[in-house]
Amino acid sequence: MSKLRLVTSALPYANGDIHLGHMVEHIQTDIYVRFNRLMGRPCVYLCADDTHGTAVMMSAERHGIPPETYIDRVRHQHMADFSLFNISYDAYYSTHSPENQRISADIYRSARADGAIITRDIDQYFCEQSGLFLADRYIKGHCPSCNAPDQYGDTCEVCYATYAATDLKNPVSVFSGKAPVIRTSTHYFFTVSKYTSVIQQWLTTNPVVDAVKNKLQEWFDAGLNDWDISRDAPYFGFPIPDTINKYFYVWLDAPVGYIAATDYWATSQGLSYQDVWNNADIHHFIGKDIMYFHTLFWPAMLSVAGLQQPKRIHVHGFLTVNGEKMSKSRGTFILARDYAAHLDTDSLRYYYAAKLSPSLDDMDFSVSDFVNRVNADVLGKFVNIVSRMGAIITKKCEGRLSTIDADGDALLHRIRQESTAIQHDYDNTAFHRAMRRIMACAEWTNQYIDAKAPWGMAPDAAQTVATVALNAASIISIYLMPVMPRITAAIHTLLNTKPTQWSDCHHPLINHPIQPYTHILKRLTVDEVNRGLFSSNP
Ligand code: 2FM
Ligand code: ZN
Repeated sequence: MSKLRLVTSALPYANGDIHLGHMVEHIQTDIYVRFNRLMGRPCVYLCADDTHGTAVMMSAERHGIPPETYIDRVRHQHMADFSLFNISYDAYYSTHSPENQRISADIYRSARADGAIITRDIDQYFCEQSGLFLADRYIKGHCPSCNAPDQYGDTCEVCYATYAATDLKNPVSVFSGKAPVIRTSTHYFFTVSKYTSVIQQWLTTNPVVDAVKNKLQEWFDAGLNDWDISRDAPYFGFPIPDTINKYFYVWLDAPVGYIAATDYWATSQGLSYQDVWNNADIHHFIGKDIMYFHTLFWPAMLSVAGLQQPKRIHVHGFLTVNGEKMSKSRGTFILARDYAAHLDTDSLRYYYAAKLSPSLDDMDFSVSDFVNRVNADVLGKFVNIVSRMGAIITKKCEGRLSTIDADGDALLHRIRQESTAIQHDYDNTAFHRAMRRIMACAEWTNQYIDAKAPWGMAPDAAQTVATVALNAASIISIYLMPVMPRITAAIHTLLNTKPTQWSDCHHPLINHPIQPYTHILKRLTVDEVNRGLFSSNP
């Protein structure tokens, strides 16, 4: 039995809806997980909502409900959204859990015992009207560099200057619209630079691709700053042990949420989180915007707590829509549930798979490209084999497959020979390459069908051709199971077969009854996709 893989997607914030950008990561992770399960490797997929912080606290307040009620509601919505896309978590937990509070405090105490927690007084803007210390995004003012109005406290969206919030001209609190005052408060810091060599040692085990390593080198060269891990009350989060009115900053307990979810799942299996966490290969899937937290703070925190560091951090780029950043005002901010209300979710899974690689490059959801790929590949190359050949078997051959001749053997052998390369691509998250290879198998099958032209043949000969083609489709369908769970299950139902493992691609279907074809997927048009995705938007 191979080692357990513990796989996670980044924990979505509890203050927003799941959109097509989140789906890139959760689909990517789910494909990896489903592939591993299909290979018979033990694999557990965990996720949770990331529930703490000022943004969540303010959203709950706007809704007039306690934050606990608010995050519970959001979590159920998130789980419902992900299930529309068949994301197969073993557990979807919450960072606002007793496990997370306990483990976060334990890690903090280990860091303190190791001399890695210091305090320092800092000056910060404070809004007297709302009684809140103001994080950078809650202050607006004129850019100190170009004087553009309405800029946040960290960077200017007009001239891209970065600055300290206290440099903004005419600053106002976004909560009250009034000028904030400066207040001094004691903050707790984690001295991450103490662990520079620990992090560098971990990097020698190749947990990240070179592009991420290079980024890390830039950060090491610049020197690692102490990390501010505390926030003053009022704050929705966990109190810091042995302090008064100090809370862990949301990013301290967020990654610990991976361990808390592990604990939650481990308990259901009669195990402890240490049993699972320290003996598994840990794979995190994240976006490139949160590399800093996962590749610097996280391995340092784990090391100080005596917990195993991740085996691999898979980093992906951002999603653009029709070549541009998703934007609410331009109507290109597509919610996952809105997509699913109009369009087939396996088609999005395929489209993403066809574009996903281990690189950090951004990925575009372009409507015309999406329509072309789904129509040409999923329908044209793959599903069509089953509908056309299934029709021959149903109409001319009493619903039964027959046997495979020498030409058929050659085709099926060629398709099975791709198996190792496709596995390798899935293992390396080079899903784009796996999809190209799999679609090549479908093209060979279509060429075989066209060359044989079974439509004009006598029933027996046509039955052999259809038997071969449907066996090819059955193998291709196994190769596609990690990507399109609904469509491949529908095809296997039609073929009266129930593969559960990759190696089932070696079992031919001979003298075997099949079901009459029923609709699996319809052709898309650009108009229809545009109407489905953008019509409700301005
Ligand atoms: O960037 C985000 O959406 C964060 N909520 C991700 C947290 S991942 C993990 F560290 F919890
Ligand atoms: Zn500016």
